[in-house]
This record gives sequence, C-alpha cells and structure tokens, in this order.
Amino acid sequence: MKAVAVFPGTREVKVIEQKEPEITEPDQVMLRMLDIGICGTDWEICTFEYGMPPPGDDYLVIGHEALAEVVATGSAVGRLQVGDLVVPSVRRPCPHPSCLACRSGHQDYCYTGDFTERGIKEAHGYMTEYVVEHERYLDPVPPDLREFAVLTEPLTVAEKALAQVTWMMRQRPPWLDPQTPSDERGHGLSALVLGVGPVGLLGAMAIATAGFTTYVYSRELPPNPRIDLATAIGATYLSSQDTTFAELAERVGNIDLVYEAVGHSHFALEAVRWLGINGIFVLTGVPGMQAFVETDPARTMRDLVLKNQVLLGTVNAGSDDFASALRNLDLFRNRWPEAVQTLIAGRYPPEQAAELILGRPTGIKTVISF
Ligand code: BGC
Repeated sequence: MKAVAVFPGTREVKVIEQKEPEITEPDQVMLRMLDIGICGTDWEICTFEYGMPPPGDDYLVIGHEALAEVVATGSAVGRLQVGDLVVPSVRRPCPHPSCLACRSGHQDYCYTGDFTERGIKEAHGYMTEYVVEHERYLDPVPPDLREFAVLTEPLTVAEKALAQVTWMMRQRPPWLDPQTPSDERGHGLSALVLGVGPVGLLGAMAIATAGFTTYVYSRELPPNPRIDLATAIGATYLSSQDTTFAELAERVGNIDLVYEAVGHSHFALEAVRWLGINGIFVLTGVPGMQAFVETDPARTMRDLVLKNQVLLGTVNAGSDDFASALRNLDLFRNRWPEAVQTLIAGRYPPEQAAELILGRPTGIKTVISF
C-alpha cells in the first residue's frame, strides 16, 4: 500500500510502498484512511526542522489530522463497527509508571516528554492507505460529518484552550456562573484571534460560538478567502499591514482573551503587551527557529502581575476535546453552511502531497485523500 514518507537522512519526501498492517491485539481496529489534512507541522517536518522517525526506521510516515473508516475490528472491540467513521487522536502515552498525566489517559499533558505522536514524533502517521489503531484512541464521527470531520484535529486546539479558559473564567474574573449556557460564556467580553490559518479560523469559530465579540488580526489584506470567512462568522478582521497593535487595542477596548495561532514568536510577544486587565493569552503555535529580538521582559512581568494576566500554552488534545470538536463542527456547519464549505480548499492524491506541503497554500485546508 502507498504511504507518504519523509526521509530526514537523505532529505526526501516521497510516496513509498509499504506492507499492509494487521490487527495483532483484540482491542485494535483496522482503518481505511479517507482524508488527511496538511498543516504547518507537516511543513516543518518536510523541511527537516521537526519530527522524528520511529526508533530503527530511517523514515516517518507523515499525517496526523485524519478521518478514517473502520474496515475490521479485533475481538474485544465494543464501541465501533465496520463501516463507522472515526477520527484518531495524535499523542500516545509515555511508558513511565511515574507519569501522572499519561497514566491517567492525559498524554497531552505528559510530564516526561517521552510520549510519541503519530505522524510527528517516533510513530508513523496517517498519510497511508490502512492503519491499525487501538479503539481507545478513536472517536466516532456521525456520518453526516463525513465532508468536514478531517477538521476535527485542528479544531481540538481551540477546544482544549477554551475548556481551560472557561474553567479559569469561573475561578477568577469574570467569575462566570457555571450555569451559563455555553454560547453565552463570552458575553460582554472581547477576544482577539491572531492568524488566519486553519487553527486560527477554526478557533475564531469556536470563540464566536462561545459568545465573545471576536476580532481576527493577521498580515493578509483583502481580497482573501480567509478574511471572507472571518467576516462571514461575524468576526471583525483587521490587517497588521494597515492597523498597528496600538490602533487595534484602541478599537477593541479591554482585550479579555487572545488566541494566538500564527506560530510567529515576535508577533506573539508583541501582542502580549496589548492583553487587557485580567486577560488570558493562549499560545498555540510551535515556532521554528526564528531570529532573536530585543524585548522588555520587565514590562511583560509587570503587566502580568499588575493586571492579573494569564499566559497559557496549550498543545492538543485529549479525548474530551475531540468529542467537543465534533459537536462544534456540527454546530458550525449548521450555523455558517457557506463559510464552512470554504474551509476545505480541495482533496488531492498522495502523489501531490510533497508539492502541496512545501508549496504555497492553495486555500484554507488542503486535504490528501486515498
Ligand atoms: C499537532 C499536535 C502536536 C503538535 C506538536 C500539532 O500540529 O496537531 O497534535 O502535539 O503539533 O507536535
């Protein structure tokens, strides 16, 4: 069967032939891969800045955002049946008995760093025809989400972030009443999303759905389908090419929440300065090597303390976040049917994966289909 693999030693990205996997444990499921999304992390892996093959292999099969169909089940599989659609998660636990996070099923909070990630770190990924996986790492997808479910994994970034933000909003200003309906959580508050990539736009959708007055800020100038999408969901878009951070902050007022999804450290650091009183700043980007810049750490520290600010880093994602991403995707699809249609730029064969990953993005989310 075909797979798209990166060879760091010879610096190649190519389609390879592999033996089909087999079910070897009773709780395993055989999956036929349908859609695999391409993201910035794939670009970093394919430019050899990030990622690691499994021990003993000189290549890594890439792909970590996926939708698949169950084609066979082991004898102990209870929840899934042949024909079901599923999304697989990415992180797998480390082996250490002392890791409280991994031992309790929260490998996204692994303490040791010895976790693996399918398609990224020491475990082959999903850009291939068939995959075998344990049932516990799969979330069932309602059939009518077939078209969009490949967006689940990138949406889990926002789901995990918002779950933590909501928890904090109950313990500290604005002392959110736990009974508040989920679409009114952000009522009266302003959120700023940095970046119009898939993580930013899906994050903007989740944040707008939670009731925040949502602003999106990025480099792009109109006309641009990403900007159209941001506006279609009711967010206000401003470009850093014609609006400074100071002008942006003046327009927004107190910035209660920032959701960073650009992966650009200088831009993110600059934005921290404009976070409002009692504000929460969520970082989701994983920047590659970037030039050093001068900063004013005393100012950042003073603001964090005197304004009760929170700086939160978050990496996706746990099982609850996958389930809530699937619920939200359904909601987005009903609320903004036309905008959601524009999220997926196109579906392409695996032979085009390398040029699509390394070339200029053609649309919002590019998908490889088997
Ligand atoms: C993936 C995460 C992963 C992170 C760091 C992201 O692109 O979506 O699952 O943890 O990269 O490797």
